[in-house]
Amino acid sequence: MPELGSRTETTVRFLRAARPTILPSLLLCDFANLQREVELLEEAGVEVLHLDVMDGHFVPNLTYGMPLVQSLRRITELKIDVHLMISDPAQYAMQFVDAGADSITFHVEATPDPEPILARIRGGGVAAGLAINPTTPFDELLPHVGSCDLVLVMSVAAGFGGQPFNPIALERLSHLRSKFGPELLLEVDGGINADTIGPATASGADLLVAGSAIFREADYCQAMTRLRCKFQSVNIP
Ligand code: DX5
Ligand code: ZN
Repeated sequence: MPELGSRTETTVRFLRAARPTILPSLLLCDFANLQREVELLEEAGVEVLHLDVMDGHFVPNLTYGMPLVQSLRRITELKIDVHLMISDPAQYAMQFVDAGADSITFHVEATPDPEPILARIRGGGVAAGLAINPTTPFDELLPHVGSCDLVLVMSVAAGFGGQPFNPIALERLSHLRSKFGPELLLEVDGGINADTIGPATASGADLLVAGSAIFREADYCQAMTRLRCKFQSVNIP
């Protein structure tokens, strides 16, 4: 685990204390009523929001960027977790730090040398991590895990919500948990629902990203409760 700067440290401690916790992915939220959506999520006990940043190049889909993070920062105290699905994380990562992100992950597939980017993000007081797609060899990630506060194990190919959960994520989570111990934060993203959230937590996932399972429901509070009651606890000291 890398040395922690004070703001990064506070965020990592917060996330560790919160685990397991569900991170709504805002991809499917009602952007015409963003403030209301955030209030509803706060009322449902959400602690961290997950923002999927896509550049239409690294993935064949386009979403939003720094202005949305800035806007959210103004209206909520919830932590903001930014998932960069972009080809050039070195160019943009610090702009997300400045916009008010609390944690940032970018893809191991996007850069041959993630270490300096991780260090810069952490130097900016933000927790930093790497994401890996299901088809990417795990060996591309493993040498860098020691420089990460969190690792995002994709359980779908990055790019779109609403895809089915790929169980390879369970093996990867278990492997990371047993190899790197309880300190490492493990995030899982894609296809998390009432059937998959139990196995994901049992395999060691701490931060569970959910899009459709929340935003396709009328009542976010009920949706969150339905998911939370399927947590399968693991012993984390
Ligand atoms: C996929 C995104 C996910 C996605 C989750 O590229 O990273 O965060 O929106 O959505 P569901 O839960 O619908 O798979
Ligand atoms: Zn995501």
